[in-house]
Amino acid sequence: MTKITAAITAVGKYVPEYILTNKMLEKIVETNDEWITSRTGIKERRILKGEGKGTSYMAIKAAQQLIDKKKLDPKEIDLVIVATATSDMKAASTAVYVASEIGATNAFGFDLDAACSSFLYGMSVASSYIESSRYRKILLIGADKCSSMINYEDRATCIIFGDGAGAVLFEPNTKGLGLQDEYLRSDGMGRNFLGAKAGGSKYPITKEAIDKGQQFVYQDGKTVFKNAVFNMADVTVKILEQNNLTNNDVTWLAAHQANKRIIEATAKRINLDASKVMMNIQKYGNTTSATLPLLLADYEQQLKKGDTIIFAAFGGGFTWGAIYFKWAYN
Ligand code: UT7
Repeated sequence: MTKITAAITAVGKYVPEYILTNKMLEKIVETNDEWITSRTGIKERRILKGEGKGTSYMAIKAAQQLIDKKKLDPKEIDLVIVATATSDMKAASTAVYVASEIGATNAFGFDLDAACSSFLYGMSVASSYIESSRYRKILLIGADKCSSMINYEDRATCIIFGDGAGAVLFEPNTKGLGLQDEYLRSDGMGRNFLGAKAGGSKYPITKEAIDKGQQFVYQDGKTVFKNAVFNMADVTVKILEQNNLTNNDVTWLAAHQANKRIIEATAKRINLDASKVMMNIQKYGNTTSATLPLLLADYEQQLKKGDTIIFAAFGGGFTWGAIYFKWAYN
């Protein structure tokens, strides 16, 4: 029997129009363009404005772009997964709403939250469903309205995060293209260093919590940075070793865009030339679950059938991992 692999066959994206530049942040918190650029690589980020607009707004736009480009009948979609750390609301999956809004009336949907690794883990889940032959068309969307959980008086976080969404379609492939292998990890001690304390079931939102700003994301940047550098580089090495690959076999590194220095450290660890490292952090900042699909959308024109892409991510929780992938179209 022919082996079925899970390939990405289309990509779409959406970023909000509003641009928050480093210069604008200089007027809000004590920071400066030089510090942000040299420490993170970020020049600007997009912010979703407008009453009642949540993550689904961007996810729908990204999905619609993909559907239009691919000339896909949304009724053929079997499953919609929204990878996100900022779902629209509690106890009602964002993916379900997105599926209805894009006309995927034959699909079921659910959200997947593993902070900044949500999309990476989502690739694993979507691929497993495809490989099992249970479903044939899976829309995986990475979308986050990070601005909804950021305190714009906290310079440790507000300079980093931005809003955006990217969508990919997974379909069966019989030529061996798509997801080849994965190495996924997590460690629960990470919740002490990155996360929003209030708003979940452990500490529901109260007036006191709001007064203390506990609904916002807190980050111990230094600790997260150290763990991100070590772990993202480590899994990137592991996925290469596991598959007998060298840096010469890698066409692209698509790494979570949290900090340019973390991405460069990962590339350096496998001796990968900068020309092979996808980078768009300067434009969007850290969009959490959207960074990887936004990279694919921005680099789509340069990707060729058979290209080897190593995906890597690190995020809150902590969660991290790497995926060895073969691109399926020109
Ligand atoms: O996507 C999820 C995972 N998240 C990440 O991977 C983020 C990981 N962390 C980071 O990217 C970095 O730690 C940050 C960008 C958050 C911070 O960079 P850093 O190089 O680790 O800076 P730091 O926290 O060590 O601070 C260095 C100095 C401090 O001053 P002193 O103590 O040396 O005088 C800070 O007070 O920079 C100061 N500082 C700032 N200065 C201007 C901290 N934030 C700012 C700021 N503007 N926004």
